Amino acid sequence: MSGTENTMGPTILVTGGTGTLGGHVVRMLTEQGLPVRVLSRSERPSADGVEYVTGDLRENTGIDAALDGIGTVLNLAGGPKGDDEVARNISRAASEAEVRHLVHISVVGADRMPLGYLRTQLAAERAVIGSGVPWTVLRAAQFHDLVFGVARAMAKLPVVPAPTGLRFQPVASEEVAARLVELALAGPSGRADDLVGPEVLTMPDLVRDYLRLQGKRRPFLPFPLPGAAGRAYRSGLNLTLDGADVGKRTWSDFLAARVG
Ligand SMILES: NC(=O)c1ccc[n+]([C@@H]2O[C@H](COP(=O)([O-])OP(=O)(O)OC[C@H]3O[C@@H](n4cnc5c(N)ncnc54)[C@H](OP(=O)(O)O)[C@@H]3O)[C@@H](O)[C@H]2O)c1
Repeated sequence: MSGTENTMGPTILVTGGTGTLGGHVVRMLTEQGLPVRVLSRSERPSADGVEYVTGDLRENTGIDAALDGIGTVLNLAGGPKGDDEVARNISRAASEAEVRHLVHISVVGADRMPLGYLRTQLAAERAVIGSGVPWTVLRAAQFHDLVFGVARAMAKLPVVPAPTGLRFQPVASEEVAARLVELALAGPSGRADDLVGPEVLTMPDLVRDYLRLQGKRRPFLPFPLPGAAGRAYRSGLNLTLDGADVGKRTWSDFLAARVG
């Protein structure tokens, strides 16, 4: 599709709009009366101001059609692998379609943590930044929803492994979604301040709070995480302690709603 054919309307394209984060974003945009298009790998009927189109961002299919008439894209698609390819494909297509604003979600510590997943996140950011499309990148800490899955799995063990010095700043995915919507509507702003949750919590803090709600207790087994990743975690390179936007919703608030 050439840029001149793209007559831009108010519709916003949300990739990952069927996911945890993207689901909140889609709801918040439609609540503001904004038309939304969602790109998903599975077919779904369009409804309630949301048009679903099929495509696969890793396979590079369906992207040009998804971008037709779109001025703003929120790239919130992601998986355990290949987020760099996803970002490269959507960035290239967005540039060709002369998209006016590409908003991308990334992870706190992407430029500091020696982990394959985070290197991929950094490569994804670079694809967006180098695309030539005016951009906004927001790095967020781990969502409560993700941490919950880990805490629940740990709580099933008779003895809970407790990597020493490993800390998190879990944040509400709804608060990340609200910030992304603000950023998308405000226009391109480059790297936004990182968004983290209001507390710094260790693995025992997270698991203990979950167990308490179930009236259970477990012993914890402290051990040092090995290697460069262990050292990076102990140095807090996965955290943003200064200069971040800080969400309001605590881990206990989340647990009370989810479990309590
Ligand atoms: N989870 C966290 O703690 C966290 C923290 C900071 C940043 N982030 C960022 O936020 C992103 C979204 O997180 P989430 O928790 O909302 O993820 P999620 O619930 O697992 O949702 C993933 C979304 O990505 C879409 N997707 C995956 N692969 C795709 C592909 N090849 N083509 C098109 N769509 C694809 C899925 O759509 P379909 O299945 O419908 O195709 C789904 O909507 C992450 O990838 C990460 O970059 C997450």
